[in-house]
Amino acid sequence: MSRAMELEDLHGPATYQRFPITAVRGSGAVLWDEQGNEYIDCMGGYGVAIVGHCNPDVVNAIRRQAETLITCHGSLYNDKRGEFLDKLTAASPHGLDAAYLSNSGAEAVEVAIKLAKKFTGKKGMIAMKGGYHGKTSGALSATWSKKYKESFEPLLPNFKHAEYGDLEAVQREVDEDTCAVILEPIQGEGGIIVPPDGYLRGVRELCDKRGLLMIADEIQTGLGRTGKMWACENWNVVPDIMTLAKGLAGGVPIGATLTRSEILHSFKRGEQTSTFGGNPLACAAGSATLDFIQREKLPDRARLNGEKFLSGLRDIAQRHKLPREARGMGMMLALEMRVDIQEILMQSLQKGVVFTYSGRNVVRLLPPLVMTSEQIARVLSVLEDVVSSEEAKRAG
Ligand SMILES: Cc1ncc(COP(=O)(O)O)c(C=O)c1O
Repeated sequence: MSRAMELEDLHGPATYQRFPITAVRGSGAVLWDEQGNEYIDCMGGYGVAIVGHCNPDVVNAIRRQAETLITCHGSLYNDKRGEFLDKLTAASPHGLDAAYLSNSGAEAVEVAIKLAKKFTGKKGMIAMKGGYHGKTSGALSATWSKKYKESFEPLLPNFKHAEYGDLEAVQREVDEDTCAVILEPIQGEGGIIVPPDGYLRGVRELCDKRGLLMIADEIQTGLGRTGKMWACENWNVVPDIMTLAKGLAGGVPIGATLTRSEILHSFKRGEQTSTFGGNPLACAAGSATLDFIQREKLPDRARLNGEKFLSGLRDIAQRHKLPREARGMGMMLALEMRVDIQEILMQSLQKGVVFTYSGRNVVRLLPPLVMTSEQIARVLSVLEDVVSSEEAKRAG
């Protein structure tokens, strides 16, 4: 065990499912550990490293901004914040022309919940079974998994959870006090669950009919990951509120809650502020990230590379007994296994590929969208080797 591991174990929380490597450097889709071993990163910081680790454009923007102005509270205007808000809203689905900037995904969700209550004057929310929205108390109320919640109850009242992908189940939960429906366009933590066609459109129409706000949590799916800039675009749906975080500033902490001006302006002075929200460093990194995504057409690249990746995963699933199913969209992929995947992840690590979990039996892949075809081929070959050797072990 390295000194860094000892120190983190000694002084840090034991809340993370740890892998036994100490990452010290990254570039594109590659990470290096302290010993100089190289890994292809299919975890991608749980989907953060969209434009790649240490993307040169982001690094330059951070460097320039760090020498100019690092912090600037929202009570003063700032050039980089204005520029970033302009780029972000220009890239957003039609009509979402305003954004509240914060520092993480959970915070972006908190703001979405508060906005929905404030704008409608109602308190009830419908979230989805299997959904994940973060671990602060409000976001956790929308999150489904009992194991994350039970020690911390009571959380926010008036949250109901409907079966994901089942429009009638959502309909059944709507009552007089419902203000919003919150969902991920594709569930990430829940196991990379792509909803049936027509579902998101159906939720949109239900919200319109019943006067509810539709909140799309695009924290994991947004920014090109699924082959479109926003996952909702795959089904031609525009939400009323959209939450973003993860890769929005190329790896610098950030959160954003996008919506229409009329909704954002239901917050009155002082009702929602944050010391670090919209800080110039994150905003400069965010502008460089959005420019890179657009210039390099990352959504198209994610779609094309994602198709190759998924067909490779499907081949593995067909040729072997341990996998149950390969699924996903763009570069948001999963290989569900019939067994606990811990051994598979550990062996992959030894062969130079970092994957992550969705639950105990789903290998989740959230690779940087800049991953090359050669790297994808290497990942598939490592995974195939590891699955074969695990099968041989079990057979013997
Ligand atoms: C869909 C979704 N919402 C919210 C969050 C919470 O984001 P954070 O960990 O930045 O609080 C995540 C994180 O994985 C997520 O995937």
